[in-house]
Amino acid sequence: MPTHPDIALPRLIAHRGLSAHAPENTLVAVRAAHEAGFQWVELDVQLLGDGTPVIWHDATLMRCSDGHGRLATLDLAAVRKLDVGGWFGDGFRGECMATLSDMLELLVELDMSVNMELKVTSRRSGTELAEVVVPRLLRALPPERLILSSFDQPALNHARTLADASLLPIGVLTESVPEKWCSRCEALNAYSIHTDWTRLTARRAREIKAAGYHLLCYTPNDPMAFANRWTWGVDSAISDDPALFAGIAPPPDQ
Ligand code: G3P
Ligand code: MG
Repeated sequence: MPTHPDIALPRLIAHRGLSAHAPENTLVAVRAAHEAGFQWVELDVQLLGDGTPVIWHDATLMRCSDGHGRLATLDLAAVRKLDVGGWFGDGFRGECMATLSDMLELLVELDMSVNMELKVTSRRSGTELAEVVVPRLLRALPPERLILSSFDQPALNHARTLADASLLPIGVLTESVPEKWCSRCEALNAYSIHTDWTRLTARRAREIKAAGYHLLCYTPNDPMAFANRWTWGVDSAISDDPALFAGIAPPPDQ
């Protein structure tokens, strides 16, 4: 195994910020996670048409803003005019889309840690996304407060060429863990595997743990249904509503 930063990985990570209680992937959702006592958030990052990295999940604007159309066709001036909070509730009206730089500034201010997901939703390549995002992440946060993940293989491959395992913890993100998971993790010097909790098997979980990787699951929101995954060796749950797991998740495995 390569040398990784000494990450104090928590049992619970707030998915897209505290997204059960605030509009996902916004500054207010990260503040809400912090106020609720969660040190780590998972966030999605992708590029606007002008190359600005922004914190956003979907390819389009419709679900989470008062705009429409594709994110990748807009520039920063256009997205700054959008309201990305009102869809969630009147109390959030006026919230602006966060750029990566807005978000990193907040994470630094709050002394928080992030699992940043490189989200490839357009024809722009994962390689380009990694090229833009990785140096900014590394400048803003120490490696023990950072995990970079993606479903996109070229994005992670390129990220690894930009920083070695001691500087950049990489999480291999999968819908279900493939047969060849181990060679993929080895090739990337990965820190962790992140997978859909409903598709993980006990056998695969135990293989991953036996090989020394950290194992994270998205997106459980029912702590009782999730309970046996802790016994399989899962390290962390990335949940929209992590407070539901209080008193049920085991203490951190230090
Ligand atoms: O990173 C875990 C999870 O966020 C992956 O799926 O679609 O919620 O970004 P998605
Ligand atoms: Mg995500």
